Amino acid sequence: MTAELLYGPLTEWLRSLRPADPAPIVEIEVISLKKDWTEMTEADLGFLSIEERERLDRIETPSRKIEYWAGRRALARVRDRLTSQGVGQGSYSLSHSEIGGRLLLVAIGVGAGLGVGVDLEASSRAFTEKAAGRWTQPSEARWVSGDLGALGLWCVKEACFKAHSEGGKVQTGALVPQYEVSLVQAFDGNRDRLQGRAQWKGSTAGFDFLVLRDTATLICFALKTGSGVD
Ligand SMILES: CC(C)(COP(=O)(O)OP(=O)(O)OC[C@H]1O[C@@H](n2cnc3c(N)ncnc32)[C@H](O)[C@@H]1OP(=O)(O)O)[C@@H](O)C(=O)NCCC(=O)NCCS
Repeated sequence: MTAELLYGPLTEWLRSLRPADPAPIVEIEVISLKKDWTEMTEADLGFLSIEERERLDRIETPSRKIEYWAGRRALARVRDRLTSQGVGQGSYSLSHSEIGGRLLLVAIGVGAGLGVGVDLEASSRAFTEKAAGRWTQPSEARWVSGDLGALGLWCVKEACFKAHSEGGKVQTGALVPQYEVSLVQAFDGNRDRLQGRAQWKGSTAGFDFLVLRDTATLICFALKTGSGVD
C-alpha cells in the first residue's frame, strides 16, 4: 500500500460524496519502516515539538517509541502539505500496524473540518466467529459473510470511531459497546474497493466510508457527515 495508490481512489471517493461542491483538500502519508529504535539519531527527532519529545521520552518500549515517532512524522508531513494549501485547521487521523515484519503507518489530513478517521489492518488478521460476535450485530451478518468480511467491518468501525472521536474527544480504553456503530449500507460490488455509510447510534453522527484492500493490507477511510443517516 503506497500513498500514490491510495490517493486516486480516495480523491475520487471524496468527490463522489458531494459532486456539486469543490473537492475537499486531502493529503495522505504512508510510512513503512523497520521497527529498530537503535538506528534513530538526534537529527531524526528534530521535528518533534517539546510536548511530543517529552512524551516520546516517557515511552519505554522501543517498538512503541518508533511507532509514536513515525506517527508524528507522518502527521507533520500531512499537516505541512495542508498548511501550504491554505488549510488552517484540518482534521487528522492516524493508524499503524505491523505487516510482514515492518511497521506500516497511514496518516490522513482533510481540510474544512470534516472529521476524518483511518484504520489500517493486516489482511491476515482473523476473527473467530465468537470474537466477531462481541462487536457485531445480527443485522450485520450479511456484511460479515459478504465481501466486507469480519475484518472489513472491524476496520470500518474503527475508522468511524476515530472520525467520531475527532482526535481523541471520545476516550475509551475498552471496546465500545457493540451497538454503538451500525453499518447501514455497503456497496460497490468490488471486493478490493467498497464504500458505504454507517451511523453512530444514539447521536446524529453518520459516516461515509471507503475500504481499500490489497493482498497484505486493508484500509478504511471514514468521513463524518455530521447528520444522521437513519
Ligand atoms: C483508539 C483506537 C481507535 C486505536 O486503534 P488501534 O487499532 O489500537 O490503533 P491504530 O494504530 O489503528 O490507531 C492508533 C492511533 O489512533 C489515534 N487515536 C487514539 N485514540 C483516539 C481516539 N479516541 N480518537 C481518534 N483517534 C485516536 C492515535 O493517533 C493513535 O496513534 P498514536 O497513539 O501513535 O498517536 C482503539 O484502541 C479503540 O479504543 N477503539 C474503540 C472502538 C471500538 O470498540 N472498536 C471496535 C469495533 S465497534
